[in-house]
Amino acid sequence: MNVFKIGVLASGNGSNFQAIVDAIKRKEINVEVSILICDKADAFVLKRAKNENIKYILIERKSFSSKNEFENAIINKLKEVNVDLVVLAGFMRIISENFVNEFPNKIINIHPSLLPSFPGIESCQQALDYGVKITGVTVHFVSKEVDAGPIILQEPVYIYENDTAETLAQRIHQIEHKLLPQAIHLISSNLVEISARKVKIKCN
Ligand code: GRF
Repeated sequence: MNVFKIGVLASGNGSNFQAIVDAIKRKEINVEVSILICDKADAFVLKRAKNENIKYILIERKSFSSKNEFENAIINKLKEVNVDLVVLAGFMRIISENFVNEFPNKIINIHPSLLPSFPGIESCQQALDYGVKITGVTVHFVSKEVDAGPIILQEPVYIYENDTAETLAQRIHQIEHKLLPQAIHLISSNLVEISARKVKIKCN
């Protein structure tokens, strides 16, 4: 059987990318990272890919005259390696409707809050500012609306009295590192069904 191929897009540290690679190495998920695409030259995730011998490419927005051309370069790379799933793992850009339509129901994102609460950036700070007692992690399919696609998995994280955005983000990251590989496992095992924007996890 053909191995299930994923393409990962990331812009920063890449701890979620690493969590996927580690889950593969532990044989918890049966997929191949066919490519890492990064849009920031100084992102640590590039070093992680190099260390792990995973094919990677830097595609910077500034090398293109339009967002459309920039995205087309990314889309072409993903198609070149025939990915079955695109994983946004800390990719700090909003992708266009055109990009989403190129991979229907085949793009997932990890977000550090319980969506639909606190979409966009600085979700940990947003949660602290609002004063909620529980926030969490969401893995969802990407739709043309930002942080609003069908939800695959969620897990709560309690907020402590003395939390800062940094301490909260650390605990959120620990959950992300478990939830993202789990979502990839479910999708690659064909255990995820979407109907009327709701996701159903099939039991095996
Ligand atoms: C994560 O918190 C993720 O939810 C958000 O960006 C962060 C990326 O972290 N979208 P890392 O680069 O994977 O460490």
